[in-house]
Amino acid sequence: MSGIVTFDGAPPPGTINLGIGQPSADLLPVDLVSQASRSFFDAAQPLELNYGVIQGDERFLHSLADLLGARYGTDATPDQLFVTGGNSQALDLVSCVFANPGDTVFVEEPSYFLAFQIFRDHGLNIVGIPVDDDGIRVDVLQRELKSHRPAFLYTIPSYHNPAGLCTSEARRRKVVELARQEDFLIVADEVYQMLYYYDAPPPAYGTMTASGKVVSLGSFSKILAPGMRLGWIQTSERLRSRILANGFVNSGGSINHISSHIVRQAIDNGTLESHIEKIRGTYRSRLEVMDSALHEHFDGIATWTRPGGGYFFWLNFDESVDTAPLRTKAKDLETGFQAGAAFSTTGSFSNCLRLCFAHYGEQDIRAGIARMRPLF
Ligand SMILES: Cc1ncc(COP(=O)(O)O)c(C=O)c1O
Repeated sequence: MSGIVTFDGAPPPGTINLGIGQPSADLLPVDLVSQASRSFFDAAQPLELNYGVIQGDERFLHSLADLLGARYGTDATPDQLFVTGGNSQALDLVSCVFANPGDTVFVEEPSYFLAFQIFRDHGLNIVGIPVDDDGIRVDVLQRELKSHRPAFLYTIPSYHNPAGLCTSEARRRKVVELARQEDFLIVADEVYQMLYYYDAPPPAYGTMTASGKVVSLGSFSKILAPGMRLGWIQTSERLRSRILANGFVNSGGSINHISSHIVRQAIDNGTLESHIEKIRGTYRSRLEVMDSALHEHFDGIATWTRPGGGYFFWLNFDESVDTAPLRTKAKDLETGFQAGAAFSTTGSFSNCLRLCFAHYGEQDIRAGIARMRPLF
């Protein structure tokens, strides 16, 4: 079974598509989920199959608070937490609750391209703020705040998708200060916060909710399995009360009640923690293999900064290179990548591309990079 991929858009057999930003089949822990499910269902009461309470099952929120306390290094309390169906669903929800059609939202340039469509679905105008090696450019943010009043800033502070970088602690604190002064919210997509392979990243925005300006999104997609469709929002009680008044939330109750029961077992019995440690080790090796394969084939042709966590390398080529049309040729060579321009609201970064080291094992990563070399 290993090597068989069944998700939507699986590449043709034999192709190593380094554009796919998903975990590999061998890191999806069927036994862990199966054991956690059995523990839950063996003792389940009928009422546990009813609608769950709208903010999420209290026992789950307690377990999640423990996990965040251990992983983020500061206390989290259940009344700051809200269960979600993962960060994609959370982005849709925050766009509904904290913005109105016609509002402006700021995103980083580049940013997670699938978020753009979610914001557009809600009639939001998107304005890009550039990043550098230390994360979002606060000087440009300040300048743009003179001509826009954004409903929120969408940021991916740790192990950015696609740029791989971490926003420094000083910048994070400055962004919070600006949010207070200029009255906008920070929607921090912290999906890779726990996936660090060397030093820990700066504190999550989730630890800065006392500012009243932070809505931090977390997900079990990258630390357990995307198919669980489970995540959380960490925010102030006041902002959480606005989410709790949402119509969809009130109609359906806990957004993914059964998954939250299962994940609670995995948190409480320690298997989630062990799994996170295991994948951190594997991803670190894959990252190093990709870095060395890139040095072997792309030194002098592209530049990149080796990421310290997450899933992605972001390669910069000479300005004359346009990576988008090369994707067709890459298919012929049975390899693949994501073209840079997809991550821009204005079609910038056409000379860049994103590679993911999470979806394939070390041998495939080496082969995929070698196959890509003749394109440039
Ligand atoms: C930055 C970012 N946000 C959100 C998602 C999707 O998260 P989820 O699976 O929790 O919906 C991804 C997945 O690739 C991502 O990279």
